[in-house]
Amino acid sequence: MDPVKVGILGLGTVGGGTVNVLTRNAEEITRRAGRGIEVVQAAARDLSQPRICSTDGISLTTKPEDVVNNPDIDVVVELIGGDTLARSLVMQAIQNGKHVVTANKALIAKYGNEIFAEAQKKGVMVAFEAAVAGGIPIIKALREGLSGNSIEWLAGIINGTGNFILTEMRDKGRNFEDVLAEAQRLGYAEADPTFDVEGIDAAHKLTILASIAFGIPLQFDAAYTEGISQITREDVNYAEELGYRIKHLGVAKRTEAGIELRVHPTLIPERRLIASVDGVMNAVLVKGDAVGSTLYYGAGAGADPTASAVVADIVDVTRTLTSDPENRVPHLAFQPDAISQSNIQILPIDEIHTAYYLRMDVTDKPGVLADLTRIIGDAGISIEAFIQKEPETADADARIIILTHLIAEQQMNKAITQIEKMPVIHGKVTRIRVEYLDKD
Ligand code: NDP
Ligand code: HSE
Repeated sequence: MDPVKVGILGLGTVGGGTVNVLTRNAEEITRRAGRGIEVVQAAARDLSQPRICSTDGISLTTKPEDVVNNPDIDVVVELIGGDTLARSLVMQAIQNGKHVVTANKALIAKYGNEIFAEAQKKGVMVAFEAAVAGGIPIIKALREGLSGNSIEWLAGIINGTGNFILTEMRDKGRNFEDVLAEAQRLGYAEADPTFDVEGIDAAHKLTILASIAFGIPLQFDAAYTEGISQITREDVNYAEELGYRIKHLGVAKRTEAGIELRVHPTLIPERRLIASVDGVMNAVLVKGDAVGSTLYYGAGAGADPTASAVVADIVDVTRTLTSDPENRVPHLAFQPDAISQSNIQILPIDEIHTAYYLRMDVTDKPGVLADLTRIIGDAGISIEAFIQKEPETADADARIIILTHLIAEQQMNKAITQIEKMPVIHGKVTRIRVEYLDKD
């Protein structure tokens, strides 16, 4: 059989890695796919730039639309990134009857609903394994491996750059900016790294996971997003004293009131396996009603790990080229007409329930703690642990760290507003949510 002809948009970290893996493992990939896979054309912005892959035998162009409109190409692999040009190129490829593979989570989270509808109409596949958690086959696990389960919740460290920064800050005391610059050099970070540190990239990925887990449309705008730039070395140390690690977590949870969809720094008990996921590694914990808890772990970014997922998608597309489009695995796990349109709402962050870590500086004088605990008690919040750090000098502030039990976010907001109004409290109260990640 003739080889499948592939066109690649973008020859950067992931595009270069994809060419390398396809070349290095060509023989085994052919044995798995049932026919050869040949990259015939690729687009990049500047053809004079050095590449991490060989481009021998690949026709190069600076015009990505040449690839999308090339009648010889069966599969377009979009690795440019962003959601403007990538969106129009992907839509054009679909309209031209080509299958698409992409690593672009921003594109899928924001425009996946329209992209999959168009692909369905045209009978082509849009595969996006590399869009979530780099090399970990989490999309396939959720969409196929766990299809017998009702998924109750999932929680993941799904941004490699953010986890790399938190780990280096904790283990080596390095500063935020230096570690971010290194993540950029290593090709982990997004073109705009605020997507990594402010949680936008993780929210894109969480949106995709939640849709596949719960059979709901992609709703990126409804996700709550908070980044790691406010996390201090002191918070990391206090969390450790209490037996926790701070991780930047994406959480999607089905509750009776609706679905929680949130990305924020989170204290996790250090005894949980996921608390030991360090550096650029990612992990996703999924709780299904039948299987219980399952954990998926691997490299969350980088050329070869991400290429592993891209190539797996190209192989999948190749295997199903001859199958009836109506009988392929649905893009978002549930059949398109079975995706709930209205009856499951994403909860506003005010309505979620978690435990909290609170840190504040107070004047060190009698009666302060009594006033503070009265406000907390009156708000219906119960305290799990309490640490007071004595001031270093007689006139300095004392530092108080409190761990609470589960409470609704709006109750906690009210209590924090009242605490911040106390004349003895100096500055803002730092609040980090806590997840136990056990049975419920
Ligand atoms: P890079 O910046 O390394 O590569 C982007 C490539 O696109 C470059 O080769 C660039 O050309 C090319 N390009 C950009 N604009 C144009 C244009 N207008 N016309 C033609 N070519 C263009 O990005 P990554 O490889 O890191 O990321 C690609 C995608 O993969 C993104 O969606 C990203 O979110 C996703 N991703 C990245 C991961 C990673 O670890 N890096 C992991 C998982 C997903 P040139 O080289 O000439 O500038
Ligand atoms: N910038 C992303 C990360 C790339 O660091 O996780 C992988 O999606």
